[in-house]
Amino acid sequence: MKRLAVLVSGSGSNMQSIADSVNRGILKGLVEIVLVISNNPGAYALERARNENIKAVCIERKSFEDEISFNGAILRELRNAETDIVCLAGYMRMIGREIIRAYRGRMLNIHPALLPKFGGKGMYGRHVHEAVVKSGETKSGATVHFVEEEYDTGKIIIQREVEVFASDTPQDISKRVLAVEHRIYPEAIKKVIEGKV
Ligand code: GRF
Repeated sequence: MKRLAVLVSGSGSNMQSIADSVNRGILKGLVEIVLVISNNPGAYALERARNENIKAVCIERKSFEDEISFNGAILRELRNAETDIVCLAGYMRMIGREIIRAYRGRMLNIHPALLPKFGGKGMYGRHVHEAVVKSGETKSGATVHFVEEEYDTGKIIIQREVEVFASDTPQDISKRVLAVEHRIYPEAIKKVIEGKV
């Protein structure tokens, strides 16, 4: 069994889809979620984790003097939980270099677009879908990739497309992409565990 930690900041619907796959889907018997970390005390993800009986902790940047001690606290929690794999699932802060180095090749992120398009600094949440609408693209999608020090640049593990219609609002695209995210994140975790990347 691989020991998985999930880092979140918001709703946690991706974390929920991973938990559902662990409970009764493709990750059953392969993975155990040992820890959820949120940087945001108000994240609904924390409540979801507790409902699933997963250890959930909040580590807020403002409780620390600097980035180094903040990242140190995250790394300590990950190590204490003997984490094998880290999944960023709507984690809205830049992850510290020391954490990336410690989990290189074992840290995944999900992005709501077809990287390398619509990635990079400032491309998160609704900004991504707004940019897709503006660009006139007929396709968008979701990407699960390994985390590297530069935003959204790591090797792609799974990418899946959705159609974009001329009448779509950013919210329409967001809904369609999120449904795909919920399917591909567990698939990507399975691929990594099975060494099929
Ligand atoms: C997702 O769209 C994900 O791609 C992005 O943040 C959103 C998180 O949603 N990185 P949720 O918290 O998993 O519901």
